[in-house]
Amino acid sequence: MTFKITTITLTPDAWPGALGVSLLGSGLKDGRWSLETIDLREFGYGKHNMVDDTCAGGGAGMVIKPDVAINAVKSVNIGNRPIIYLTPRGKPLNQKKVRELSKADGLVLFCGRFEGLDQRAIDILEMDEISVGDFVLMGGDIAAQAMCEAVLRLIDGMMGKAESHENESFENGLLEHPLYTRPREIEGHQIPEVLLSGNHAAIEKWKIQKSEEVTRERRPDLWEKYKQSD
Ligand SMILES: C[S@@+](CC[C@H](N)C(=O)[O-])C[C@H]1O[C@@H](n2cnc3c(N)ncnc32)[C@H](O)[C@@H]1O
Repeated sequence: MTFKITTITLTPDAWPGALGVSLLGSGLKDGRWSLETIDLREFGYGKHNMVDDTCAGGGAGMVIKPDVAINAVKSVNIGNRPIIYLTPRGKPLNQKKVRELSKADGLVLFCGRFEGLDQRAIDILEMDEISVGDFVLMGGDIAAQAMCEAVLRLIDGMMGKAESHENESFENGLLEHPLYTRPREIEGHQIPEVLLSGNHAAIEKWKIQKSEEVTRERRPDLWEKYKQSD
């Protein structure tokens, strides 16, 4: 079945962007997933297709008008796909949410610009608000593409056999252990001996130990959750 992505944006040229290359690019050509890009400007008003207006209550910047956003979203054959508004005010995206989204029929994405979208459009359309991190981008396109890439790679048949997601960061609540490949030595730095030992039990033990070390050091928030789940 084709995973259907619709994106509503003021910068349609930004799509498919990074999603149009490599395995996901092939997946798009093969019809494993599809992309419909809707230009929000087409739903704007007047000679200049105005989509935004000044912020109620004052303050710098412009806000995307609710009627424009609602008309654009309602022009889409939504089916039972979730409607997602990418926003720094949203719930932070994580691998659990990515996995949940990968089980849907597809996604309808609203990419914001300017100061953001009128709250009433978010409420009326019952949008799911998602953030890709605690930083502010200029628009929702790169955020949406990052989310799409994370979701699409979990769709059956999208990744080559060589790639697997079982042992990856976040899948077991930990960050991944360090990775090595040939040559055995570079500039005096060796591949850890245990990885060349052929002793599978010792290798597994090393991987878990390294995963735990890096998670404890870099992500105390994940480490606390992991310890509690023991
Ligand atoms: C300049 S930002 C608006 C920031 C907003 N005024 C705020 O303070 O939360 C413009 C658009 O970029 C997108 N965006 C920016 N940062 C994002 C993030 N971390 N996650 C998801 N979308 C983001 C959203 O679609 C947002 O409407």
